[in-house]
Amino acid sequence: MSWAEIYHDSFSNILKNIKKVRGAIVGFNTNIDAIIDFHSEQILNLIKKIGVDPVRLYTNILKWKGKIHSPVDFITGLCGCFEKGKASEWLIESEETYQYLLQNLPPPKKIQLGGQAGIIANLYAELGVRQIFVHTTTLPKLMRELFSKKKNIQIPLYNKEGELVFLHPRKVKDFDESLYFHIISEVHKGDTLKLGEKLYWKCPRDNRFIATFDPPNAELEILEAFQRDIEVLAEKSDLLILSGFHMLNVKKLGKEGVNQKIIKTLELITRAKKANPNLLVHLELASTKNRLLLDRLYYYSSKDTYWNSLGCNERELVELLEAIKQKRLANEIKADMFTNYELIIKGALKVCEKLKLERLHLHLFGCYLLFVSKDYPIPEVLLFKTLCFASLIAAHKAITGKAKGVFKFKEIIDTIDIDATLPKAFKKVNNLLKKIETYVSYKDFDLNEYTILAVPTIIVQDPIQTVGLGDTISAAALIAELTYRQLLF
Ligand code: GLC
Repeated sequence: MSWAEIYHDSFSNILKNIKKVRGAIVGFNTNIDAIIDFHSEQILNLIKKIGVDPVRLYTNILKWKGKIHSPVDFITGLCGCFEKGKASEWLIESEETYQYLLQNLPPPKKIQLGGQAGIIANLYAELGVRQIFVHTTTLPKLMRELFSKKKNIQIPLYNKEGELVFLHPRKVKDFDESLYFHIISEVHKGDTLKLGEKLYWKCPRDNRFIATFDPPNAELEILEAFQRDIEVLAEKSDLLILSGFHMLNVKKLGKEGVNQKIIKTLELITRAKKANPNLLVHLELASTKNRLLLDRLYYYSSKDTYWNSLGCNERELVELLEAIKQKRLANEIKADMFTNYELIIKGALKVCEKLKLERLHLHLFGCYLLFVSKDYPIPEVLLFKTLCFASLIAAHKAITGKAKGVFKFKEIIDTIDIDATLPKAFKKVNNLLKKIETYVSYKDFDLNEYTILAVPTIIVQDPIQTVGLGDTISAAALIAELTYRQLLF
């Protein structure tokens, strides 16, 4: 079968049967994203305004601080992402800098719902999942309006009588109204930043830099209904997706505070699984600059089997590898600018093994890799389709800027000749997988436990935005899988 055929055959069955999935719980981070389209001219203006010397800027980029204390740190992160074409999120550590940025950056071209939980909840609502229980710590008026209007999206709460009720976010009253914007600066492939006669950077890939000041999400205060009644939610659902640990304010919470937040979450997972042993629990990683967070998350997670599944990109994988004491491998991947797929696969297998995962979805640019345990219940032929479905949703979002409306998948497939224009990443991965298959045990890969699947993705030229695509891809593939689970068992 050609890839075009698999793509054509990938979506109708899933869309038709998605309602068979009973429900999904998504937590914890929901926020508002302010999307700024940054072009080189505006970046240059900002550099001048902030008054940073280009050479200093360059040395700052090399240091890659990973957090924002001043406007100079912001411009460093922005220019670093521009130069390398890489995505990154840095937390803003001073309210004064956050206010400065709000006042001095170009106006946003769009305001939309953000955070892994918010993005996935809206996607599932539009796809028609029967019930989505979404978590949020704040709910200002603006955020309420950014939630999908679809009725299937609900926040579990208690009414005045203390009964558990499920309200559409737009109908919720008396909630924390604090309003913070995550500043998303989108940069564009091919744009050139000329800083001096010999100093200029050409942006290699459409990407974004996220600057975040969000005290409520940094506390990860879990909603009462998620704490007290997680069993009720789990019984109504087939899927639990969690994310948001990257937002934790380590300085404020301290090591012990961080430990407590993680332990509390893992306890919730245990209770949810006890109430519904078939619940699939997925962790969506997000760019996490603070090593302690991943370190602790891994440490406590490896004490039992909490996560069935994990989703990440190559950069997040490297961050996780550092936390699971695979620093050498992480450095090797970093040194090769993320193109050494052999090492990336090796790293992903290490993570699968250490966290005892059943599945890991690695979303790379041009290729999705899915690692599933040998006894995974879904046939490979269907898994390929779920990945193609995810690629179509991501393409729709990249083209339209939204994961809603009429999904014109057929048109998307017909505009490209996927088999004739296979992405470079996919070709490399595919060759490697063929070698691995031939030798069964290739180099030091242990493939006794896992099967690896790779799918070429649809690459959209000039995407409207890139933020949130990773979450969308992971969530789409997952819901597609769950749909098949309902059809098969
Ligand atoms: C992170 C950011 C959030 C963004 C999301 C997209 O969670 O904090 O602003 O919407 O990533 O993946």
